[in-house]
Amino acid sequence: VSGKLSPLLKIQQEAVDFYHRVLLTTKAGERGMQYAQKRELNNDILEHFKIGYAPKEDNVLITYLRGKGYQDDDLAESGLFVQAKDGRLFDRFRDRLMFPLDNEHGRTIGFSGRRISNDKSEAKYMNSPETPIFTKSKVLFHFAEARKAARSEGHLVLYEGYMDVIAAYKAGIKAGIASMGTSLTDDQVYMLRRITPNIIVNYDGDDPGVHAEERAARMFNKDGNFNLGIVVLPENLDPDEYVKKYGTKKYQEEVSGALTPTDFFLKRLAQKYNLDNDREKITYLAEAIKEISQVRNPVEQDMYVERLARSAGVSIDSLKANLARERRRNN
Ligand code: CTP
Ligand code: MN
Ligand code: MN
Ligand code: MN
Ligand code: MN
Repeated sequence: VSGKLSPLLKIQQEAVDFYHRVLLTTKAGERGMQYAQKRELNNDILEHFKIGYAPKEDNVLITYLRGKGYQDDDLAESGLFVQAKDGRLFDRFRDRLMFPLDNEHGRTIGFSGRRISNDKSEAKYMNSPETPIFTKSKVLFHFAEARKAARSEGHLVLYEGYMDVIAAYKAGIKAGIASMGTSLTDDQVYMLRRITPNIIVNYDGDDPGVHAEERAARMFNKDGNFNLGIVVLPENLDPDEYVKKYGTKKYQEEVSGALTPTDFFLKRLAQKYNLDNDREKITYLAEAIKEISQVRNPVEQDMYVERLARSAGVSIDSLKANLARERRRNN
């Protein structure tokens, strides 16, 4: 570690401990604790994820860290403060539930803070800005812990959000990670590549979430080294909401019932067309055959063709003829 990185990492760790202590042991933290309880975050969860609370005042962390001897130039570079025109530093995160964001070795490099007030003019989540140690597009929430759990669980489960990873953790799925929003990056895909080929994608069940799953599936397929499962939750629910509504057992069933990417795409296609209309149905079948022609495993290909034939009421032979033509076109 270069001379410059070390104080930056130390400052992040100090902030983790500080916010965590404020949440668990102080009067100022009671607001945060009430919110944590509302979100059903028990003490085990607060400990495991090192969740904290940033108080309302704008000078609490800065005062604390100066008191510990940290220098203003390092503090200014940490991303934890905003700098006024006159150069003065103020706490960036105020009245927020704090989620530490760690690098692949489990060292904290930045934060995301959840708004706990009802003031919708404030962003729901506020993140650390880019710093010499923090690049958001290269971070996966809970990655360092999840990679250990992946060894026994056999896969990683990819979520959108912090609360989803936490809900999964409570449901016994400890190999959960989050892309922190719907736009998965190439860097994140590359991080996963080294851990396991088995990835289950479980974004939110709303329209943006399902669109993002399509995009993620294309990215993983393009890489070619993954064996994907895709979960689409009903009623626009996100995993956290789903567990709350239907319970742990139902949720685990959703995860074990994850679709293959091809099944997922075929289902999406079927929803796009009115299959009672012959012309739309013909287009749908052509698109479906295109999708199936991408499948490398012939046995798996057969499976989809047979199912498609049955559901569309056409012969397997005619679909296979179209599939053969499609494959010639691909080559
Ligand atoms: N996100 C973000 N900034 C925002 C909104 C979202 O960085 N203004 C990221 C967060 O990592 C968040 C994830 O995108 O966890 C998913 O967003 P969303 O589904 O809107 O939030 P939830 O995770 O469901 O948050 P909550 O349950 O607290 O409402
Ligand atoms: Mn969402
Ligand atoms: Mn849509
Ligand atoms: Mn969500
Ligand atoms: Mn949520």
